[in-house]
Amino acid sequence: MPVKRELIPSDAVPSELILQHCSDILMHPNMQVEASCKQHGTTSVLAHSAAVTAAALIVARDLRIPVDVRALARAALLHDYFLYDWHVGSPENKLHAFTHPYRAARNAMRDHALTKHERFIVRTHMFPMVPVPPTSREAWIVCLVDKAIATHETLKGFARRDARRHTS
Ligand SMILES: [Fe+2]
Ligand SMILES: [Fe+2]
Repeated sequence: MPVKRELIPSDAVPSELILQHCSDILMHPNMQVEASCKQHGTTSVLAHSAAVTAAALIVARDLRIPVDVRALARAALLHDYFLYDWHVGSPENKLHAFTHPYRAARNAMRDHALTKHERFIVRTHMFPMVPVPPTSREAWIVCLVDKAIATHETLKGFARRDARRHTS
């Protein structure tokens, strides 16, 4: 099926687009698992995924990039749907950076029946750690926005730890 793309209106609100396209995902019980697992610093996987989704929609809206809004929003929200705590020391978790896009895509298929394109966006978001390039514009947006948000969350975590160390 060809991808249907459109410009996101300049007055569109990301949180409203997320509710329009992803309310079933947000209501799923596994979102509680995402809320309880840390991603970067003190940020939960759910907060990280919501931030990536909102930022991806803002990038497409403000740079006037026609996108498949539904695929962009759903795949961004599910891009880290791996559903375990990767900070726990285990042999599998050592490979987390390379393997979690595949785990996320499998879980998302099981719980939310992703389209082929949405699955592709989830699987390629860790490029170049995952050696398959994100060849659609939606996949590139999620891949790049994820790195920017992850860097920001990680640095925020370092800054917090540093501030604690110097005040105690
Ligand atoms: Fe990820
Ligand atoms: Fe991520």
